[in-house]
Amino acid sequence: MKGIILAGGSGTRLYPITIAVSKQLLPVYDKPMIYYPLSVLMLAGIKDILFITTPHDQEAFKKLLGDGSELGCNFQYAVQHKPNGLAEAFIIGEDFIGRDKVALVLGDNIFYGNGLVNLLRSKTDITGASIFAYTVKDPERYGVVEFDEARKVKSIEEKPSKPKSKFAIPGLYFYDNKVVQYAKEVKPSDRGEKEISTINKMYLDDGMLEVGVMTRGMSWFDTGTVESLDDATEFIRVLQNRQSTMIGCIEEVAYLSNFIDKERVKKLSKRYGKSKYGNYLKEIVEIIY
Ligand code: DAU
Repeated sequence: MKGIILAGGSGTRLYPITIAVSKQLLPVYDKPMIYYPLSVLMLAGIKDILFITTPHDQEAFKKLLGDGSELGCNFQYAVQHKPNGLAEAFIIGEDFIGRDKVALVLGDNIFYGNGLVNLLRSKTDITGASIFAYTVKDPERYGVVEFDEARKVKSIEEKPSKPKSKFAIPGLYFYDNKVVQYAKEVKPSDRGEKEISTINKMYLDDGMLEVGVMTRGMSWFDTGTVESLDDATEFIRVLQNRQSTMIGCIEEVAYLSNFIDKERVKKLSKRYGKSKYGNYLKEIVEIIY
């Protein structure tokens, strides 16, 4: 399975912070936001990853993440010229995807929780589509899924003014190769975007959509507004400091996934100088593992 991280968009809800800086490079506590969704794909065991960014932000992402080889991965980059919607990721990524299946994660989504690794790994051989549902207070901000009494999916709507349920769809999607064809058929919505929800509805109409409910053991943050960015930062800070472990540490994930060995982690730790992050990497090879 290939992976795509969508890290374009204009980030206008965070202005003036994101006028000159990409949202997905902003810090979420002690590391750039993009580390979190990247670590999610790596935890799923995915090594071939395409970063889709705006044309002007691409260099900064390349500077931060390189070609992935040091992490035992293969990172590629593509640009999205205008924020035409999430579904465009599969058109931009068509050659990269080739004949494979693909996971898409949004560059501003953070996942953490019990059973996440097993959940992710169980989706990498999907036939059809697999997405998630998560209860929130403000479903009107998201894609919303409605279930019937038997927990069968009844409807999917993008940002409905009157949501039919509290179940928002987080920005993590697993698809078979048909998604490329479906993406090409998506027409822009009233807000002018090619919606991922339209693709999900296509799979639903085909009887090929699976929706797993993420329960309260799982935490999901989308960091698109100042408040949610601040909440995510606070969450990561409290959890990391309490547990003395890091969330979204890409070198640790590469090591635990057997993409790289201890010596490589040691070498990579030098890049981070005297930072807490660098010290953590030194510690994990000497003390923790
Ligand atoms: O966060 C989950 C939600 O993400 C889903 O529940 C919705 O169904 C989905 O449409 C999306 O909603 P948002 O309106 O919150 O998406 P937003 O415009 O904030 O974009 C999400 C990320 O994707 C963000 O990191 C920017 C990036 N992006 C967005 C668009 C529209 C792109 O790279 N290109 C784009 O064209």
